[in-house]
This record gives sequence, C-alpha cells and structure tokens, in this order.
Amino acid sequence: MSVSSALAYAVKHEPRFVDELKSLLRIPSVSTDPAYAGEVRRAAVWIADHLHEIGIDEVQIHATEGHPIVTAAHMHDAQRPTVLVYGHYDVQPPDPLDLWETPPFEPTERGGRLFARGASDDKGQLFMHAKAAESWLRTAGELPVNLKFLIEGEEESGSVHLRPFLEAHQERLAADVALISDTALFAEGLPSIGYGLRGMAYVEVILDGPNRDLHSGVYGGAVENPIHALTRLIAGLHDEQGRVTLSGFYDAVRDLDDEEREAFRSLPFDEAAWKRDIGISAARTEEGYSVLEATCGRPALDVNGIGGGYQGEGAKTVLPSRAGAKISVRLVPDQRPNEVAAMLRRYFTKETPPTMKLTFRDLHGGMPVLVDRSLPAMQAAFRALRDEFGRQPVFIREGGSIPVVADFQEVLGLDTVLMGFGLDSDAIHSPNEHFGLDRFCQGIASSIRFMKEFAATG
Ligand code: BES
Ligand code: ZN
Repeated sequence: MSVSSALAYAVKHEPRFVDELKSLLRIPSVSTDPAYAGEVRRAAVWIADHLHEIGIDEVQIHATEGHPIVTAAHMHDAQRPTVLVYGHYDVQPPDPLDLWETPPFEPTERGGRLFARGASDDKGQLFMHAKAAESWLRTAGELPVNLKFLIEGEEESGSVHLRPFLEAHQERLAADVALISDTALFAEGLPSIGYGLRGMAYVEVILDGPNRDLHSGVYGGAVENPIHALTRLIAGLHDEQGRVTLSGFYDAVRDLDDEEREAFRSLPFDEAAWKRDIGISAARTEEGYSVLEATCGRPALDVNGIGGGYQGEGAKTVLPSRAGAKISVRLVPDQRPNEVAAMLRRYFTKETPPTMKLTFRDLHGGMPVLVDRSLPAMQAAFRALRDEFGRQPVFIREGGSIPVVADFQEVLGLDTVLMGFGLDSDAIHSPNEHFGLDRFCQGIASSIRFMKEFAATG
C-alpha cells in the first residue's frame, strides 16, 4: 500500500474533487432555519450517495427529531485500528446577502479560493476525508485503517440530537480515535493540531414591559423601557477588568499553567496584524491575559444579538413593549454548560425589575475539552502534517466549539484529533466565506498520510 500512489491520485483528480464539492455547496443546508429543512435533508442524501459511490459500505441515513445523521463504515480488517471521521453538512445562515460578492450557494473560484457558504465550515473540510478514502481505495484497493463516518446536520444549531444518537449507537460508532477537520490552522502554511476547544452555554433573555408599544411622548418618563432594563442587566455582566460578574463563574475555571502560557507565547502570533485584519484599534481582554490566552484558554461571555423597538428607516417615536438578547458563553475546563446557564438564570431572575416580565430560555450547551497531546493518534497526526507541510506542526487550543468532541469522550471513550485546515480569514459564519484550494488539497493529502501513520501505531 503506497502513500505515494494515493497522493498522486489525489493530485490528478483534484479538478473533479473540486467540482464535486461545488455540487454539495450548492445545497443551502441551513440548519437553524426550519424553512430550509428540505435542503438540509438533500445535503444528507448527497453525502450518503457520495460515500456509497466511492466504495464506503454500510451507508445509512438516520432520521432524528431534528435533521438526519449520516453514518458509514468501511470495516475490512479487524486487526487494524478504526478511525471515526466526524463532520457537519449543515451551514450557518448566509445573511447579510448583500455583502456577498457572489451568491453564497453558487460556489465560485476566485484567486485560488472557493467562495460559498460552507466552503470551509465544514463541507469543504469534511469532504477532504471522503476524497482521501477514495484515493486509497482507487489505488491500493483498500484503506490502511478501518474507517467510519458520522456526519451530522445540526452542528451549527448546537448538535442537540447528537448525544442521544451516540448513546443509542455506541457499537456502530466504536473506534480507536475520532478525526475532525472543522477548525483552523494557526497561520497560513503552519500545520496545526488542535488539542482543546471551548464549550458553550447559549441562552436567550426577553423582557416584556407595557402590554403594547407606546407613544414615547405620551408615556415616556413614567414607564420603564424594556430596552433600558435589558441593557442595564447586560452591562452588569462584566466588570471594569473585563471579568464576568456572575457569582461563582470562575470557580470551576482551571488556571492556565506556566507551561501552557509559555506555549501560547511561543506561537507566532502577530497582534498588530490581527487587529488590522478585523479593523479594531485595541484588544480588550480579561485583565492579565493575552489575546491568545483570552480567546483559547479563558471563558468569554458575548451578546450575539439584541433587539427591540423600532429598527427601520428614519425615526419613529416609540417606547417598546419588549426587548430581547441572545447570549453565548464560551467555556473552558472544568466549567459546565448547565451550571453556567443556571448562573445566568439566577442573575436575570434576581435583577429583573418588578416592572418587567422575564422569559429565560436555555437554548443549547456543549462541554469544553482538552485532549492529551501525547496520544499515539496525536503523534500520528503530527507526523502526517509534518511530512505534508515540510514543517513542524504546532499544538493549539481553539476558541470555537464543537460539542460532539466532549460527547465522544464521555459516551464513547473516544479521543479526538482536531486536524483543521481553515484559516481565521476564511470568513466562516460571515459573508464571502471561502476555502483555499491549496488547503483543500493539503487536507486531502494529510488525511491520506494520517491513515497510514495511524495504522502504523497498531
Ligand atoms: N467549525 C466551527 C468551530 C470552530 C471554528 C472551531 C473555528 C475552531 C475554530 C463550528 O462549526 C462552529 O461554529 N461551532 C459553533 C458551535 C456552537 C453552535 C455550539 C460555534 O463555535 O459557535
Ligand atoms: Zn463547523
């Protein structure tokens, strides 16, 4: 079984691989919006058909209470280790549409990059593993490892139906390691292995005041405005030092040790370029922490959206009856989503003034994770990436969340190798999302190499 034949096959067939990826990207599989449910299903069917076509057997589409889950397995040699590839075929909503240079679901190549919603997150990245498997199967006739796929359609909306699925299908999903490409390289050309992800507690808060929108001249001055009440409560969530004020919030936060802080410092991070890229003049972190520490190793609470009152063109004089906000909290070990959501609930319940009615919704959560960097699978990924990029990979913690990783640990006892090929500049979740075709190819080649390296670990 030669790696070089599989690699050569991938290079030769790259144009077709890109065309196939474009077909998948044309399907607007937006999981959060029920209006797209049919399209989400179409994407699941597309993936299942494709895995079947390239020679992966046991492909199944499982209905859930939400969007379908696709599983597949290629188990050909009980002696070999098994890799479970996870990915998600759902995407974020594409809006604001007018900021896209070309339409989000009409994949377009420009300057070596493929622009489309999902190009990087995560259709482009999950597809790399399918193409790596194809490259082995069409050259060696077999894979160096046993390979399973678990591809879901609800990652962008919190993977709410995935955990019960894992619990119910432990045998079907049993493996020696999970492999996920849904994160980013630390920098262009720098191979990176993720060993940590932040967790998530996501809540929605609504305050209702008067029973209807009021004329702000007739009532203003004597009626508490729900937007004022809500923004006051939100402002109270942070102190001057950028710390979250919720009682007990930091109790479970594991401190960064000196070794890890040193590792953060040794990464080639250019703070000036980082600020320039996102158009800010200064970073604002929790006092005492660097940008990298604050985004990867410390918790963060953010208002994701806030609404209420008049937001249309021009001026309308109104004292609104309702205000609402969506709040996410990124968690680090050993914080727990349900505990943090409970702290938020207590805070809003206690602080909401008697003039307002509070509605508090716990939308979803996910546990933070850390993976042992010395695991054989991590070392196999290290060798695969080093050989592909011709450079020593770095180990990084990621600030984003992939809820299934903690569930793999808890339910299946499975560690995950995060081998991502995105870049922070890919504009995931934003207009003009794209994926570099060079990285798409490097990802396929790295996956080909990983299978071989992991097989060699026994
Ligand atoms: N691919 C991202 C997660 C990610 C992005 C990790 C960049 C590391 C670097 C994933 O699709 C995502 O956006 N996840 C959500 C999960 C949430 C809805 C629970 C997130 O992080 O907001
Ligand atoms: Zn993703």
